[in-house]
Amino acid sequence: AVLAVGGFAVFIAVSLLNAKVDTVGTVDFDRPLAVPPLAESRVEADGTRVFALRMQEGESDFGAPRPTPTWGFDGDFLGPTLRATRGEKVRVEVTNDVGETSTVHWHGMHLPPAMDGGPHQAIAPGTTWKPHWTIDQPAATLWYHPHPHGETAAHVRRGLAGMFVLDDAGSPGTTSTDDGPALPHTYGVDDVPLIVQDVQLEDDGRLDENGSFLSPVGLLGDTILVNGTPGPYDEVTAERTRYRLLNASSARTFTFTFSDRRSFALVGTDGGLVEQPSQLEEIVLTPGERAEIVVTMEPGERTVLRSAPLPERVADSNRLAGDDDHLDVLELRAADRLTPSAPLPRRLAPAPDVDPDDAVRTRAFAVSSQAINGLEMDMSRIDAQVEAGTTEIWELSARDGSPHNFHVHDVQFQVLDVDGEEPSPDQRGWKDTVSVRPGKQVRVALRFDLPAGTDEAADTPYMFHCHLLRHEDAGAMGQFVVVPAGRGSDTPDASDEAS
Ligand code: C2O
Ligand code: CU
Repeated sequence: AVLAVGGFAVFIAVSLLNAKVDTVGTVDFDRPLAVPPLAESRVEADGTRVFALRMQEGESDFGAPRPTPTWGFDGDFLGPTLRATRGEKVRVEVTNDVGETSTVHWHGMHLPPAMDGGPHQAIAPGTTWKPHWTIDQPAATLWYHPHPHGETAAHVRRGLAGMFVLDDAGSPGTTSTDDGPALPHTYGVDDVPLIVQDVQLEDDGRLDENGSFLSPVGLLGDTILVNGTPGPYDEVTAERTRYRLLNASSARTFTFTFSDRRSFALVGTDGGLVEQPSQLEEIVLTPGERAEIVVTMEPGERTVLRSAPLPERVADSNRLAGDDDHLDVLELRAADRLTPSAPLPRRLAPAPDVDPDDAVRTRAFAVSSQAINGLEMDMSRIDAQVEAGTTEIWELSARDGSPHNFHVHDVQFQVLDVDGEEPSPDQRGWKDTVSVRPGKQVRVALRFDLPAGTDEAADTPYMFHCHLLRHEDAGAMGQFVVVPAGRGSDTPDASDEAS
């Protein structure tokens, strides 16, 4: 509403009001980092791995004088880490006990649209939804979270989110191979998930859901939680530790870096491992994006994982709400004796190989804070029909002066260029969510197919949207269907309505 009424001037004014949080040095790092448990599962006679998740109410200690009412899966806040292997059949039985209709979306997963958990797969209070599919993609760090239309920000912020880790028997992300060592892969020891979120707490401990810190990008909080822990430290016990970073915030972009500017190895992006490790000093993650990094420590060392102001190369002159904040995230404390780690594998995975010359179609998506291509999300409108077996190029841009990002369900895509320039190392791997800053067009190439088990007659849509959840909820979302080869690609409904 702020944007619609006031336009750009109000946007800038509000941005400046919110620009300073500056909490560097004020976090005590006095709590051990919580690590989400691995979800239990059972395997049925036909090999299906079955998980159960219950969305429930609870309360959490985030350091406020009173406990914070929160939601979680099988607990008070966040959920267990689901883990499955490429080729496996899985089923997740999700029970809704939070008293509001919700959904659970498997972010980054390649699966039939009816199993996707978008706004069409509503789970009414007191009921159980049982999606099932076959894992058919490389080792990766995916995640799950609700997706009810108009309510996603609230449900995620209350605590409904968790990781979904995929293994792949032939991948150095999972096991050592004939070609060499594996990446660190002992869960909770040298392979640690980091679900990073900012929250704003009221004096009485309740989560501020719409109040004082609301900026045009959404709610920016000044309390940083990692796996639900405020002010966390991680006791490091191995020479090299792999951290699976997830930005599960609803609006905030993090520029992760270490206080001593030590470099780290980037080994994975949204959709899996990168071709080879690259040494970086910082990595920018917008909401929904993931990165797997490997950090090397000496015995007894300490360093702090922080979020620094957004670098110039990303922000240009458009510095907006939250872009200049410094935020402490996690202290790493290396033990006096560290378990030796294998050297990093030199080759990790094949590079993305979507050939833009194969593209049958180019589509443009201009994102604003309430619409895409001028159209607000309409659950009864299909915005794009793509054909299985084909490649498309999607050109993404920001239309209204606000930063956005763009997430596509079902596929992992390849970034071709950003503002005409080659993608930076952190954007060269498989991606399902990409930053779209004002004035910088992003071109991505996507290859579509029909996941096994898709009901071809149903034409259930997948979503594409801005993953700044306030924008998504306000209407910056659209729907696409993947149809069998031969039925052709199209923009079925949108063409007559778009002006
Ligand atoms: Cu992580 Cu459509 O969402
Ligand atoms: Cu947006």
